[in-house]
Amino acid sequence: MITIDFTNMMASAVQNGVTDADWDEARRGFTSSHDALRRLRDSGGLDFAGVPRDRRLLQQSLDFAARARNQFDDVVLLGIGGSALGPIALRTALAKRGWNELTAAERDGYPRLHVLDNIDPVTIDAVLGRVDLRRTLFIVTSKSGGTAETMSQFLIAHQRVEAAGLRVADHFVFVTDPAKGALRPLAQELGVAALEIPPGVGGRYSVLTPVGTLPAALIGIDVQQLLEGAASMTEWCDTSEFEKNPAGLLASLLYLSDVRHGRVIDVLMPYSDPLKDLAAWFVQLWAESLGKHRPDGTSVGSTPLPAVGATDQHSQVQLFMEGPANKVVAFIAIADHGVDITMPSAFQHVNELGYLGGHTLAELINIEQRATAGALAKRGRPNLTIHAERVDAWHVGGLMALLEIATAYAGQMYGVNAFDQPGVELGKQFAYALLGRPGAEAARADWDTLPKPDPRWSVGR
Ligand code: PA5
Repeated sequence: MITIDFTNMMASAVQNGVTDADWDEARRGFTSSHDALRRLRDSGGLDFAGVPRDRRLLQQSLDFAARARNQFDDVVLLGIGGSALGPIALRTALAKRGWNELTAAERDGYPRLHVLDNIDPVTIDAVLGRVDLRRTLFIVTSKSGGTAETMSQFLIAHQRVEAAGLRVADHFVFVTDPAKGALRPLAQELGVAALEIPPGVGGRYSVLTPVGTLPAALIGIDVQQLLEGAASMTEWCDTSEFEKNPAGLLASLLYLSDVRHGRVIDVLMPYSDPLKDLAAWFVQLWAESLGKHRPDGTSVGSTPLPAVGATDQHSQVQLFMEGPANKVVAFIAIADHGVDITMPSAFQHVNELGYLGGHTLAELINIEQRATAGALAKRGRPNLTIHAERVDAWHVGGLMALLEIATAYAGQMYGVNAFDQPGVELGKQFAYALLGRPGAEAARADWDTLPKPDPRWSVGR
């Protein structure tokens, strides 16, 4: 079960909270956003929402994972952005803690999963140096099939596999668009299996396609339950009743807090280590979808900020309490953490220790979440809590679908296209120009007009 408690967002609970007038405005905004998303869905423009019920797509991952069972000790995922953050979030949430450090027996014979979400030579060298290539599978994940970082990772891994005298087709699988991009023909040329990312599903909305389900299935995560949880949430969010639509409510509250009350930062703070990387995944989803120019040229979008409880109570919470009143904190609280440890009743004569005896760690972390939410509310800092029964595949699927659909609603509210990312293009073009990629001549000319580093404006010793 997943519920959202937004009492601490409302003017009745916090100063400068959501007023009755805001609420009426939110309902109107939701209704037109809901209608717009319906139209988008009916015209085939909201493909991510259909993924949880796409059995054919899921089957691709299940079949490949079944064939690969017991063949590999290591799976190395090559990808970046949406192609990497979803798989990382799934591994952290749903594999046993410290997965890659466990023995094969502790992993029930499933392989380790490394996600190379960067091109830092330090990381790539370390991972490639550690794995036994004869027992390694590389997943190359790229929707566009041409991302420079992913292609660089592929070139290096491919060369290593060939140099080791191994058959490329036995050690690679691609996850990419069914028709477009360089990976599809390359798969054919190399005889490599290639799973699909549906054409209308972009990177940051792709975690429930083989982008996420293939690596998850390879390490034994219950991907059927993951999609079941996501499908259930998607159906719940189909309602046009504002007060009953969790994604619509979440988007409306964050949007209004930004544009009416200057709450320009949205913190996602799970009180759960397994959900730490879900917060990192959400950051990309929200930032890349909403931080945009509107057609009239104005810039919009609130800034997502990841945090984790209780750790960040000793880091960022001071800022949330007394820094600029420009944030909304969305907590995720877990009822059942799966394991628990009772604190022994010892040192009763020491004030700082005695009161803890007999309480459990799960009790402590959950009480600290409630205490932080209450303290923020008391200081006029709005917050809401997403409650999930436990961190299992069903709930993680539900949370991911909730956040994806909320982002789509927020895109409508802000008046931007939540599914493109034109702002990253210029940096890519400059990088192509500096690397001498054919076709980047105009970007090179543009680059050359930039001011050169000026010794007057730099310092060093
Ligand atoms: O959300 C997005 O579309 C992006 O962040 C992409 O995931 C990222 O740029 C990687 O792109 P691709 O999957 O095409 O390699």
